Amino acid sequence: MNHKLLVEMTRHNIAHVKADTADQSNDILEIPGSFYTDPERWASECRNVFGRLPLVVALSSEIAEPGMYRAAEFMNRPVLVARRKDGTAQAFVNMCTHRGAQIVEDGKGKANRFTCPYHGWTFANTGQLIGVPSAKEFGEIDRDCFGLTHLPTFEHNGFVWAVLDPASQLNIKQFLSGYDDVLGVFGFESWHVFGRKRLESANWKLTYDGYVDFYHLPVLHKKTFGDKFSNRAISFNWGPHQRIVTPDPSLLKLEEKPESEWDTKKMLKGVWPMFPNAALISIDGRGDAMMFSQIFPGDSVENSYSTHVFITERELTRQEERDAAEEQFSFLVRVLAEEDYPVCYDIQKNLNSGVRDKVVFGRNEPGGQIFHGWVDRVVRASSDEELNMLFAEGQAENESRQTENV
Ligand SMILES: [Fe+2]
Repeated sequence: MNHKLLVEMTRHNIAHVKADTADQSNDILEIPGSFYTDPERWASECRNVFGRLPLVVALSSEIAEPGMYRAAEFMNRPVLVARRKDGTAQAFVNMCTHRGAQIVEDGKGKANRFTCPYHGWTFANTGQLIGVPSAKEFGEIDRDCFGLTHLPTFEHNGFVWAVLDPASQLNIKQFLSGYDDVLGVFGFESWHVFGRKRLESANWKLTYDGYVDFYHLPVLHKKTFGDKFSNRAISFNWGPHQRIVTPDPSLLKLEEKPESEWDTKKMLKGVWPMFPNAALISIDGRGDAMMFSQIFPGDSVENSYSTHVFITERELTRQEERDAAEEQFSFLVRVLAEEDYPVCYDIQKNLNSGVRDKVVFGRNEPGGQIFHGWVDRVVRASSDEELNMLFAEGQAENESRQTENV
């Protein structure tokens, strides 16, 4: 099924190559510049987008075996993701139910139980409270009511998503609109983390805009890699999640063989933006090394930070291949830090001046149009129920596409 889907996307690409065209949105999209500068708008995005939508909280391979965990902060909330004995991953608020201290230090490790550093309350990696020092003296409590707070969690094809709101009613599977199934083409669950870097930038959406934009590639990146790209984009979407790739003449060679023999790896190129704040970037076009980036709002409308995890299909053991991977990773991070993010700071400064309250996305920029359209819809949705209705549309579109392809 996934191979068939990749073939279909590749056929679409080949048709554009032959016609010398690319995908276009129906209209030009204008959005107010204040969407990048207004503290109230920003606060509602933090609340309604990041506070309510599933975010990737771990890669499955980081917590591959039962007993492994990852602890990290998301939107100032400490999150602990643990793989339980039954193999399932579960995210918790990394906060003691006694007096609120953070239980596990940020990082990765292996432990079946976690002890709070403040008074020593101990929790199993199922979240259950299993130890209270001086329990008799403490007084009687119903331990079942003092387990770690569960966050709604969903794991599929190498990613663990969680919603930061423990009371969320969001249907995570529906939110993913079939994108999680598509990710199965990579087999990420058995990949390896090679390295991780963190960068700072201006407003989170200004920063994310660069990830869904191919129009700028040959211009802004002319000194680094831009000469290998046209400024055209072909965009596919599953609800709010996307794949963006440039029309690629090298795909024409695939036509020499029957479709069933088309090499999956040759059909994975491009950027795979995962709504609302992440993107997988194919590094070498061969589909065996990727960068997984996530962008988060910083402490104000004017700043953000991004984390970049470099993942490889095989574990790199030979020094030469590790050096080559390090070079590729550093190159990508340098391009972001030295070419993309400085422009974000420039734009931020210019929009802050208020002299022009409008930015515009062309018909040739479907990535940005899809992204901003969904951010706006999510910000406006008044409840999880309404969000579920929005994402049901994406899911339905995906299902009808699958039916057409059977
Ligand atoms: Fe860029």
